[in-house]
Amino acid sequence: MSKASSVTQSHTAQNRPPGPSLATLLKLVVARRRETYAVIPEVSRRYGDVVDLPVPGRDNPPVTLVSHPDHVDHILVRHHHRYVKGESYQELTDGQPLSLAFLEGEDWRQVRRPLNPHFTEQALERITPKLTSGVTARVDAWAKYADTADWIDLEHELGTVVLDGLMRAVFGVIMATGELDSYVRSARDFSRYAANRSMMHDLPAFLPRPFQRRGQAGLAAVHVDLERFIAQRRADGSGAEPDLLDTLLEMSFDECPHLQQARLLSEVSGMIFAGFETTTEAIAWTLALMLSNPSTLERAYKEVDSIGGAPIGYANVGRLSYLKACFDEGQRIQSSMANMRTAIEDDEIGGYFIPKGSRVLFSAYGIHRDPRFWNEPDKFEPNRFLTDKINRNAYLPFNAGPRKCIGFRLANMEALSTLAVILQRYTFQLREGWEPRHRMRIITSLAGGLPVQIRTR
Ligand code: HEM
Repeated sequence: MSKASSVTQSHTAQNRPPGPSLATLLKLVVARRRETYAVIPEVSRRYGDVVDLPVPGRDNPPVTLVSHPDHVDHILVRHHHRYVKGESYQELTDGQPLSLAFLEGEDWRQVRRPLNPHFTEQALERITPKLTSGVTARVDAWAKYADTADWIDLEHELGTVVLDGLMRAVFGVIMATGELDSYVRSARDFSRYAANRSMMHDLPAFLPRPFQRRGQAGLAAVHVDLERFIAQRRADGSGAEPDLLDTLLEMSFDECPHLQQARLLSEVSGMIFAGFETTTEAIAWTLALMLSNPSTLERAYKEVDSIGGAPIGYANVGRLSYLKACFDEGQRIQSSMANMRTAIEDDEIGGYFIPKGSRVLFSAYGIHRDPRFWNEPDKFEPNRFLTDKINRNAYLPFNAGPRKCIGFRLANMEALSTLAVILQRYTFQLREGWEPRHRMRIITSLAGGLPVQIRTR
């Protein structure tokens, strides 16, 4: 008996309750235009935990929205082998060779296995000094903006902080300030274009994808930098402790030298794309929410001050439990809007038939704001992570199962050290009337950036 036929089908697609029509969905999007993220939770509130969404075009496979944490656990953990990421996900690569985040099956295992040792707790302890040297250097450089009347976009500045830390820690590369600035802008240009490509996957190919020229130029610029770092490492050889770049350089992707180089480049750039914008936006959201909540901010300053002016490192970051709760809560409020998987065999979720080839969508935002699993879900309340029993399946910043983020420990370390180094040095004034709002990108960012004035403490 095949795995597919072993699934018990107690319901069929026909007896599933009807979902919203395209017209109803569009009406909801218009009504919620200042907060489009709220559309998905609204749909599940009205139609239930398993609901079909309207799909443009007759040939596109159906999309089913699932909104219960158990359903997400089903897809990502218990029955992950029944699903792949699928074609709309691959739009994010813009036709570049696939890298770890996009590979499936044995191809995926062959890349993930040798990289895992670079993301253990021991590896993190080893690379943290490099990480914090980059973070501290960049945050110290904000002194030039401090105590002036200038409005600074902290979202952009945090990009350079995170990138500097990441490049030093993961690839042993120290980039100049100007290089960091232009890398961040180029990566953002590509990311905006790729997000549009992915969202427009079901629309006819002849429709132009917005921001294409700028996005592709951004990716080309990023690749020029990365190819230089690869050539430099080939020339210099590895240091005493081989790092992630050394492991990638040793991996054999293809017998053809040209394809080998293209795959290597896609792995290197895929790793930085996966780690840079995610960590930047999670920190930007956390800081934005803390600055909008004075009592939280005061408690975080007190906690950071309790370790004195000591350099932030692996040994003392663990003492910042309230700051960690702020980061966890920041990520809960930020959230990704949607994540898609494609069924590669027939399945059943919540009693409903999921046919092979159809797509299943879940929204971390929706689950993170579901009052069945969170008290006062719209409130920024870091303390809940210290006092409440958190439903593991209802908290998904890094997803779960075998495809869980490989870099989650590194991300937490970079976020906490960045926040701590910042709070040790500065206070901030938010622009009057500004408040954090979701902007849809591959990674949820802040509408209008994060405009602040900076003061030295
Ligand atoms: C706050 C920061 C981060 C967040 C929120 C985040 C989130 C995620 C999520 C949700 C996934 C799963 C995507 C999916 O299954 O569709 C993922 C995968 C991945 N992340 Fe992260 N990530 C972060 C930081 C990092 C860092 C620092 C790195 C490495 C430098 C990294 C590297 C990766 C890679 C390579 C994958 C693909 C793993 C695989 O498919 O085996 N991430 N991340």
